[in-house]
Amino acid sequence: MPKVIVIYHSQQFGDTKTLAKALAEGVREAGAEIEIISTNHRRITIDEFLAADGVALGTPDYFSYIAGTIKTFFDDIYLWDKSGESVKGKPAVLFFSHGGGGRGREPFEYLAGKFFEQVGETVESKRPTGDETKEQCRMLGKELVKRLK
Ligand SMILES: Cc1cc2nc3c(=O)[nH]c(=O)nc-3n(C[C@H](O)[C@H](O)[C@H](O)COP(=O)(O)O)c2cc1C
Repeated sequence: MPKVIVIYHSQQFGDTKTLAKALAEGVREAGAEIEIISTNHRRITIDEFLAADGVALGTPDYFSYIAGTIKTFFDDIYLWDKSGESVKGKPAVLFFSHGGGGRGREPFEYLAGKFFEQVGETVESKRPTGDETKEQCRMLGKELVKRLK
């Protein structure tokens, strides 16, 4: 059974958490094992990262960029890679919440593109989170698992 790790930051309203939960539902429905980590609470370890076959990564737009804890996650992957670990190339899906500007999507996709093979399109949600974007996340979770099987 493939294993998916969902990594997200959510702080202001819980918008990104709502998207993460919808995506996790799709991953479970598609029959994968899942682990969910909120980077608000802690950093992901390299062992957790290496144990995952696929990654779902979510961030709000903070100042036309990604949340600081997600930036730290990218910094960690970069350093793991430089230390010789095989961390590049996992299939990944991206989800993103913003308040109307949404310019953080570009740096988010740019950084993800350095380390991951993106599956599907980024789900972009202008808050408040609606049923349509939740459904897009659920479908994206399924698409990721399909790619892993
Ligand atoms: C510190 C901070 C900076 C933000 N900067 C932007 C921004 O530049 N552009 C934008 O569209 N939304 C911005 N927002 C709004 C959030 O992206 C939006 O409310 C998002 O849905 C919050 O997600 P969350 O509830 O998961 O934390 C900002 C919010 C915060 C707290």
